[in-house]
Amino acid sequence: MCARSSTFILLVTFVLSALAEKITFKNVKIWYNTEDQQYVTGKINSAYQLKTQSNASRIVRIEIFGGSVPVIHPGDFKGFPALTDLWLSGNELKEIHPGAFSNALDGIRLSRNKITTIQDGVFSNSTIRFLDLDHNLIDSISPHAFDNMTDLRNLNLNHNKIKIVYREWLQDKSKLQMDLGYNQIEHLPSGFFSLTTTTTSSSTITKLRLWHEIFLALMIWISRVCSWAVTKSKNGRTIL
Ligand SMILES: *[C@@H]1O[C@H](CO)[C@@H](O)[C@H](O)[C@H]1NC(C)=O
Ligand SMILES: *[C@@H]1O[C@H](CO)[C@@H](O)[C@H](O)[C@H]1NC(C)=O
Ligand SMILES: *[C@@H]1O[C@H](CO)[C@@H](O)[C@H](O)[C@H]1NC(C)=O
Repeated sequence: MCARSSTFILLVTFVLSALAEKITFKNVKIWYNTEDQQYVTGKINSAYQLKTQSNASRIVRIEIFGGSVPVIHPGDFKGFPALTDLWLSGNELKEIHPGAFSNALDGIRLSRNKITTIQDGVFSNSTIRFLDLDHNLIDSISPHAFDNMTDLRNLNLNHNKIKIVYREWLQDKSKLQMDLGYNQIEHLPSGFFSLTTTTTSSSTITKLRLWHEIFLALMIWISRVCSWAVTKSKNGRTIL
C-alpha cells in the first residue's frame, strides 16, 4: 500500500517536472508586431500557447518586458517564420539552451536579465546582426559562442562580470562593434588591440572602458595603504 502510493507520488512528481520543463513563460503578456500592426496578448503561460497565436506566420517582432521568462528551450520561437526581432529585456532570464533561436533573426535584445553563461551553439551559425546582452550577470562566454556569425555588427556586453576576452569572438566578423565596458576584465588576448585595428579585420571594440577597472584597482590600493597606516599608527603609540 505504502509502496504503491509512493510510486504514485513519484510518478506524479515525474510528470509534473516533465511538464514544468516545457513552460517557458510565466504569466507574461506578449507584445507582437505584424508588418503593419501591434498587438498584445492576454496572459500567456507556456511556449506552446505562444505558438498557437492565430497569426503566428505574420509576426515579425515579439516583445516581452518585465515578465518572467526563466529559461528558453530549443524551439520556443519555432512557429514564427517571419520573426526577425526578439526583445526579451528585463525578464529574469537565466538560461538559454543551444538551439533556442533557430529563426532567421536580425536582432535579439536580452538586456537586464540574469544570464550567467553563454555556451557554444546558443547564437553560433545565426544571421543575427544586433545582439544585446548588457546588464546581465555573465561571467563566462565560451570562445566559440559567436562562431559563424558573419553578419554580427553590434555586440553589447557592457555591465557584466566578464573576466576573460577571447580573440575567437572577433573571428570572421568584418563589421563588428563590441561594447565591453563595465566588466571585470582580467585577461585580454595578446595582440588584441592590433587584432582589432589591422586592415584584414575591421572589427572594432568601441567601448572597452578599462578606466572602471583602473579606478577599482586604485580604490583597493588606497584602502590597503590606509589600513596599513592605521595599523602602523596603532603600533607606533601615536593614537590620540
Ligand atoms: C491577429 O490578427 C488579427 C487581425 O489580422 C487581430 O484582430 C488579432 O487580434 C490578432 N491576434 C490574434 C491572437 O488573433
Ligand atoms: C553550425 O554549422 C556547421 C556547418 O553547417 C555545423 O557543422 C555545426 O554543427 C553548426 N553548429 C551549430 C551549433 O548548430
Ligand atoms: C562553424 O562552421 C564550421 C564550418 O561550417 C563548423 O565546423 C563549426 O562547427 C561551426 N562552429 C560552431 C560553433 O557551430
